[in-house]
Amino acid sequence: MTPGRPAAAPDVADRATAGFSQGYDAQPAGRWAAPGRVNLIGEHTDYNDGFVLPFALPLRTVVAAGPQPGERWTVRSEIADRPVDFGAAEADSPGRVTGWGGYVAGVVWALREAGYAVPGARLAIASDVPLGSGLSSSAALEAAVLTALADLGGLDLPAAHRPRLAQRAENGYVGAPTGIMDQSAVLRCRAGHALFLDCRDESVEHIPFDLDAAGLAILVIDSRAPHRHADGEYASRRAACERAADLLGVPALRDVPVADLDAALDRLPDDETRRRVRHVVTENQRVRDTVELLRAGRVPEIGPLLTASHASMRDDFEITVPEIDTAVEAALAAGALGARMTGGGFGGCILALVGADRSDAVATAVRAAYAERGFTAPTTLTALPAPGTTRLP
Ligand code: GLA
Repeated sequence: MTPGRPAAAPDVADRATAGFSQGYDAQPAGRWAAPGRVNLIGEHTDYNDGFVLPFALPLRTVVAAGPQPGERWTVRSEIADRPVDFGAAEADSPGRVTGWGGYVAGVVWALREAGYAVPGARLAIASDVPLGSGLSSSAALEAAVLTALADLGGLDLPAAHRPRLAQRAENGYVGAPTGIMDQSAVLRCRAGHALFLDCRDESVEHIPFDLDAAGLAILVIDSRAPHRHADGEYASRRAACERAADLLGVPALRDVPVADLDAALDRLPDDETRRRVRHVVTENQRVRDTVELLRAGRVPEIGPLLTASHASMRDDFEITVPEIDTAVEAALAAGALGARMTGGGFGGCILALVGADRSDAVATAVRAAYAERGFTAPTTLTALPAPGTTRLP
């Protein structure tokens, strides 16, 4: 998926270890791996207290780490020439450490704010999760660092609290107003399963998602579309949803049942707000319907729900871009059972549910449609649900 990396490149865990030993002239105390994720369905529902259904990717970020005296953190990354180094004063000032180092400082900040004695540490990062493709490379980094620091410091950090802490790093330190989905996915997913998450109470159900047994595959296609205004548009969608919930007198849009949707829409002042609300309310229902079908082992039947989710994001929530719509249309025309954009929108990836033997044909059709329109060629990967964050042996 990462263009330019030779096929025989060393394993990501070996690269993290090598980064540590070369950078610090010492062996790490351990290595922690966190995956990227795709969301099967349930977009822009998390910050509306709703439902999501992501699964972890086999692409991982690995952090090799060891202790360092005092309140000092040094971080090396294979994508940077120089290490980032910070102490308590920088960690305690949100936004002070910028760029990729900000996610690491943000985790230290969130842990310290929650009252944990965060051990000083040296870290080295390597990653196969592509950056800026909407596959949660930032959540993977946060999760790997959080788990490494918790283990190094022997912190009593219940697994169920970890996603909120990682999310706080992103919201409070880096300054991105994202929901709880990505951090929950990378920390809590299990191999072979999708994670059905209730974003209000953070309860989860691991839903078996055996694509091989169903003779199916999920093709993930990176649209390569430049992220245009993604941050501002994300924040404005979130604000619109919160305003609409206020107008409807509910704590969050999750509290509008799909059966009451028409009555709720009648009470809203303008067409744009009505369309935003319709997306969120119907999307929550599509997540529940998808879960029902998966529980019943009727995997191929989720296809139309994926496609309906895409139409809702395109027409009602208005977060797709031409590259993304082209990829979805081409995948469907080439026989995908369903296809949709995954992630926050304005670029990023689409996923297509395809017969296992149709993967190549669908990928080829998307590439051809791209070439016809003069878009930068997309990259593809077939995704099987992988484990969440772990300490490596
Ligand atoms: C981004 C955010 C998530 C979620 C999705 C949209 O990935 O980080 O919290 O809101 O967008 O579903």
